Amino acid sequence: MISKGMKISPSNGKLGVVIPGMGAITSTFIAGVEAIKKGLAKPIGSLTQMGTIRLGKRTDNRVPAIKDFVPLASLDDLVFGGWDIFSDNIYQAGIKAGVLEPTLLDKIRPQLEAISPWTAAFDRAYVKRLDGTHVKKAANKMELAEQIQDDITIFQKRNNLTRTVMVWCASTEIFLKQEAVHATIESFEQGLLKNDPAIAPSMIYAYAAIKAGIPYANGAPNLTADIPALTQLAKDRGVPICGKDFKTGQTMMKTILAPGLKSRLIGLNGWFSTNILGNRDGEVLDDPDSFKTKEESKLSVLEHILQPQVYPDLYSNYTHKVRINYYPPRGDNKEGWDNIDIFGWLGYPMQIKVDFLCRDSILAAPLVLDLVLLLDLAQRCGMAGIQEWLSFYFKSPMCAPELYPEHDLFIQLMKLKNTLRYLKGEELITHLGLEYYD
Ligand SMILES: NC(=O)c1ccc[n+]([C@@H]2O[C@H](COP(=O)([O-])OP(=O)(O)OC[C@H]3O[C@@H](n4cnc5c(N)ncnc54)[C@H](O)[C@@H]3O)[C@@H](O)[C@H]2O)c1
Repeated sequence: MISKGMKISPSNGKLGVVIPGMGAITSTFIAGVEAIKKGLAKPIGSLTQMGTIRLGKRTDNRVPAIKDFVPLASLDDLVFGGWDIFSDNIYQAGIKAGVLEPTLLDKIRPQLEAISPWTAAFDRAYVKRLDGTHVKKAANKMELAEQIQDDITIFQKRNNLTRTVMVWCASTEIFLKQEAVHATIESFEQGLLKNDPAIAPSMIYAYAAIKAGIPYANGAPNLTADIPALTQLAKDRGVPICGKDFKTGQTMMKTILAPGLKSRLIGLNGWFSTNILGNRDGEVLDDPDSFKTKEESKLSVLEHILQPQVYPDLYSNYTHKVRINYYPPRGDNKEGWDNIDIFGWLGYPMQIKVDFLCRDSILAAPLVLDLVLLLDLAQRCGMAGIQEWLSFYFKSPMCAPELYPEHDLFIQLMKLKNTLRYLKGEELITHLGLEYYD
């Protein structure tokens, strides 16, 4: 299939990146970009910076870098701002997070110290393990949204920005279900005015962004923009949105392994996943209400990949458990264990053990960069509403209500690359390949 390609407006001028939550991921992301700009390190893990895309036939030998194929903003044009309930600047946040070496942070210290968070829209009722004083005061949630928009407008003017993107990198909130107030933009705006408890702070930021025409990505599992009021607002305003919950450590491994097992029709009796981590994220997730939000996100992937309704003999009866244990000595260096009980030919049981000693923010930072650049590209192509082609980055991908989400990492990557080909009017790659044997 060949499209005519989309009209893509150029990426002239500066791109603002506004981030609710300036903790471990955000400091690792911003410091990383600054280090890369100075030639101190390479953007490992970033598809937009290091990935390539095959065009045409395998015999054509056309494999450009993605960043040469589609017009992405350059790293030099990114300007960072954001909000937090603590007033630490990005240098201090980076030192506290303990992800990057102080020797690296010191080399870019002036750039990092220049970024201090604005006061946050925060309510302890939604993140019970945190308390901060660097917070906004307002009569109602609508006023909070207006204050967030004011922060963004001042930032845009001061830095002479042509475009802005928002990525939620703040803590995981308590589990919320969709309610009547989330159904339409009218009910949602009424809810903001009436301080409806079903509207969490993350929703106030997302509303402020979408209303202002700013693309929005949700890096946490919170419900946030995954409600009809905000998905419709995004469509109406020409704003691309995506989420939820960055797919990094254990779940990334799960969505690599599970499609492999399913491809070979290997059955599953159980998948037990446990983690120890000691960063602030781990502390927040130690609260059962925040953990419930994360648990729902982490549990959903296997069900959708393995399709028990289609393969009842293989997948109708497995046990899936996920645990997260807050264990301060490990800091951001999480350890994730998986015990996978599988069965093969004639039902004979086997086991797989995975022990992933990962670094949470090191895995997440390149995803933030890609999402910023790809959401900005999407908006310049005129794409609005849910961007399912960005599922590649998420544990709980947002998709149209009548669809089930696609979790298989390799299908997600194919979808992403085919979308880029489509945008540029290149032939989509189906991997059929019969033409080579004609
Ligand atoms: N690191 C990963 O691999 C990964 C993967 C998927 C999802 N996530 C999610 O990404 C988010 C960020 O992770 P992190 O490791 O950087 O956590 P972190 O605790 O280091 O940083 C989050 C920051 O958000 C701030 N915050 C909380 N509520 C806020 C609000 N309403 N407004 C503004 N700031 C607020 C906190 O003060 C904190 O500084 C978490 O929700 C986490 O669950 C992380």
